[in-house]
Amino acid sequence: MSALPTILLIAPNGMLGTAWRKLLIAKDIPYRTAALPEFDITDPNAIAKFVTPDIGVVINCCAYTNVDGAEESEEIATLVNGTGVGYLAQACKQADALLIHYSTDYVFNGVATEPYKVDGPIEPCNAYGRSKAEGEKEIREHDCQHLILRTSWLYAPWAKNFVLTISKYAKERDSLKVVNDQHGRPTSVEHLAATSLKLIEEGARGTLHVTDGGQCSWYDFAVVIAEHANPACKVVPCTSAEYPLPALRPKYSVLDLGPTEAIVGKMPDWHENLNNVLNQIGHKEAQEVQQKAS
Ligand SMILES: NC(=O)c1ccc[n+]([C@@H]2O[C@H](COP(=O)([O-])OP(=O)(O)OC[C@H]3O[C@@H](n4cnc5c(N)ncnc54)[C@H](OP(=O)(O)O)[C@@H]3O)[C@@H](O)[C@H]2O)c1
Repeated sequence: MSALPTILLIAPNGMLGTAWRKLLIAKDIPYRTAALPEFDITDPNAIAKFVTPDIGVVINCCAYTNVDGAEESEEIATLVNGTGVGYLAQACKQADALLIHYSTDYVFNGVATEPYKVDGPIEPCNAYGRSKAEGEKEIREHDCQHLILRTSWLYAPWAKNFVLTISKYAKERDSLKVVNDQHGRPTSVEHLAATSLKLIEEGARGTLHVTDGGQCSWYDFAVVIAEHANPACKVVPCTSAEYPLPALRPKYSVLDLGPTEAIVGKMPDWHENLNNVLNQIGHKEAQEVQQKAS
C-alpha cells in the first residue's frame, strides 16, 4: 500500500513493538523484524546483518526497561539503551536509513511545575533515565536521519503494564492503595504507534514528545481502571514515601505536546484512549470465558 521505504521493526514482541506490528499488518505495510537472540543491539555485527542498505526506516522498540533493576545494573542498562543505540545509529547513518527511536520522560529531573519542553534541560532522575539520555546523545552525535520520540507511562491490552495490573488487583481485592503525588501523561501504545507513523509520513525529524492528552496522577488513572474492572473495589490515595522503590520516580513528568500537535493535531485525552484499551481487555476476557465454557 505504502510509499514508505522498507521498514525494519526492532523488538516486535515487546509492548510497543506489538502495537507497531499490529498497525503495520492492519495497514498492509510490508516490514521486516529483528529480535533477540539473532538481533542483539549491543552487537554491531548482528546489527549489520539486519540494517542493510535497502532498509529505509528503522523503528527501534528495543530497550532495557527495568527501571528499578537499572539502579543495580546501570552498566547493562547503558550498554543496551546508550552504547547499543549508538551502534544502531551508526548503522543507520551508513545505510542512510531514518531511525525512529523511543525515549522517556525520565530524562528530565521530575520537579517541574509546567510541561517539559522538547529542548528542556536533560537531567535524568534515575539510572534508567541516564541510560536513555545516553541513547539520545549517541543518536545526535552520529547524526543519522532520526526522530526521537519521548513518551511516558505506556499501557496496552497486552504485556505487563499498570492498566492490566490494576484491573487484576481490582478484581481480587476490596481496596487498593495508589500513589497520588506523581503526575504525568499516560500513553496507549496503539496511539503512540499510530502517531509515530503519522509523524514519519509527515516527514518529522529531530526530537518530539508523544503521549495521550490531558494529565493525571497514578491514583487518578487507577480510579478509572478499577471502576471499569470492579466498581466495588475502593482505590485509596497514598504518598510515594509509603511505597519506597529502588529508583526515584519523578513527581511531575508531563511532556509538552505543542510541537507534535502542530504537525499531527491534538492528542486524544487519556480517558478516551484508556476506554478503548479497557474495552479491548473486557472483550478479550469475555472471549476467554466463552472459550472455557464451550
Ligand atoms: N514502558 C514504559 O512505560 C515506557 C515509558 C517511556 C518510554 N518507554 C520506551 O518505549 C520503548 C518501548 O518500551 P516497551 O515498554 O514496549 O518495552 P518492553 O515491552 O520492555 O520491550 C523491550 C523489548 O526490547 C527487547 N530487548 C531487550 N534487550 C535487547 C537487546 N539487547 N537487543 C535486542 N532487543 C532487546 C526485549 O526483548 P526480550 O523481551 O526478549 O528481552 C523486548 O522485546 C523503549 O524505548 C522504552 O524505553 C517506555
